[in-house]
Amino acid sequence: MDATFRKAGREIAGVITLACLGALPTRAADQPITFSNQVVRIFEDKCQDCHRPGTAAPMSLIRYEEVRPWARSIKERVATRNMPPWHIDKYYGVRHFSNDMSLSDAEIQTIVKWVDSGSPLGDPKDLPPLKTWPSDDGWQLSRQFNRPPDLVLKSSEYTMPAQSQDQWWRPLTPIHLDEPRWVRAVEMRPGTTAGRKITHHALAHLVQDDPDARRLSESVGAQRGPNEAGTLMEWAIGKNFDVYREGTGKLLLPGSHIWWDIHYHAVGEKITDHVELGVWLYPKGETPKYRTYLTGFQAVSRVGAALDIPPNTLAVSDGFTVLRAPARLENFQPHMHLRGTAMSMEAILPDGTIQPIANVDKFNFNWMTNYIFADDEAPVLPKGAIIHVKAWFDNTTAHKGNPDPNQWVGWGDRTVDEMAHAWVNVTYISEEDYKEWAAQHKKAPAPRTGGTIQ
Ligand code: HEC
Repeated sequence: MDATFRKAGREIAGVITLACLGALPTRAADQPITFSNQVVRIFEDKCQDCHRPGTAAPMSLIRYEEVRPWARSIKERVATRNMPPWHIDKYYGVRHFSNDMSLSDAEIQTIVKWVDSGSPLGDPKDLPPLKTWPSDDGWQLSRQFNRPPDLVLKSSEYTMPAQSQDQWWRPLTPIHLDEPRWVRAVEMRPGTTAGRKITHHALAHLVQDDPDARRLSESVGAQRGPNEAGTLMEWAIGKNFDVYREGTGKLLLPGSHIWWDIHYHAVGEKITDHVELGVWLYPKGETPKYRTYLTGFQAVSRVGAALDIPPNTLAVSDGFTVLRAPARLENFQPHMHLRGTAMSMEAILPDGTIQPIANVDKFNFNWMTNYIFADDEAPVLPKGAIIHVKAWFDNTTAHKGNPDPNQWVGWGDRTVDEMAHAWVNVTYISEEDYKEWAAQHKKAPAPRTGGTIQ
């Protein structure tokens, strides 16, 4: 049905394009905002990638007839910066992100005004031709790298019954390599669309005899398993891939294994699935200068014990981690569960200066969005800098996502328990490189707060 519907749509759009060739709509300031003259263009840029037939989103935002019934809900979600799922405070710390999908303040105002004026279609002659979208099967990064992954690793299958407590599936998968190879990028996904419903998140830990990795990952409190050499990748809705920055990568050694840690939750139907990891390698013989380590910076003082959220209360928790070598932080991905509402990260520099880095002030448990810092804004920090991560929880009725405000909540793996850490790719650099960097860069501008549109 989808294919026919979209084909028909495209033909109609073709006719419309011909009809208005050479007569692009002019937009005078006093011209009313309509779907055809402005709003559809914002949806093309910022919504349709997810909101089109055959995706996980609840509705398509392509044609006016599809959009119109959702107008009120669209206004509410965009004005509160809940949609697109980009929940970071734009005025705190790092300002630019390489995967930014957010709406500008002007775009939000355009949508709000359009809904307030009755969400008119306007003149269909103003409609742009329908945008075509690539098919969703296949790996997203294949488009960027122009080739399929060099390695595809699959966990063994797991069957989640219709009703069950949460389950953790931790199989081991060998990576068959004859020589050390450097990883350029990784992408991870549940094996099937049905599998997306039960997969809460999935971790691919790397198991190999790798003393260097243990030394650095231990310094930042990473989870430790047998011979664990750090986490290669974490998948959750909103985090599908990691492309390492120019000159950085992760190292795979012969004899290595992936140790999966997949968290499944039951959704009322029996579903069998596995998780797949696509790996793009650097060419043989090419060694990037730096290694990157996926690190969980804790917002608790001690994993497993330090979270205490009584019924019907608000709670705050934080954690501090000292960097044992100079490092660049590549991204920020807060991880909390149902009661989480916000998480921030700042660096306390050895001279006492506090450098704000990022603050997800509208955290939404449905979205574990990964915020990737733009190349020239990824914070570079000296040895001895303290990473301070702070998490906020709301265990009251005021919090929409709260399943039961009368429960005491503590640290734990289940969705109804809580956790608080920020997943960050940390690239350690040498002292010399740090000094060179510091000589070239002045201190970051002072933070500014506020600016949320309501
Ligand atoms: C990264 C994918 C993605 C992008 C980009 C995105 N959405 Fe969504 N949207 C979803 C998913 C998935 C849901 C359902 C889960 C949820 O509500 O969070 C959703 C839910 C919604 C809802 C709530 C529907 C309901 O059930 O009431 C609205 C409204 C919405 N999106 C509007 C938008 C608009 C407008 C844009 C662009 C300005 C946008 N979304 C961009 C994926 C996306």
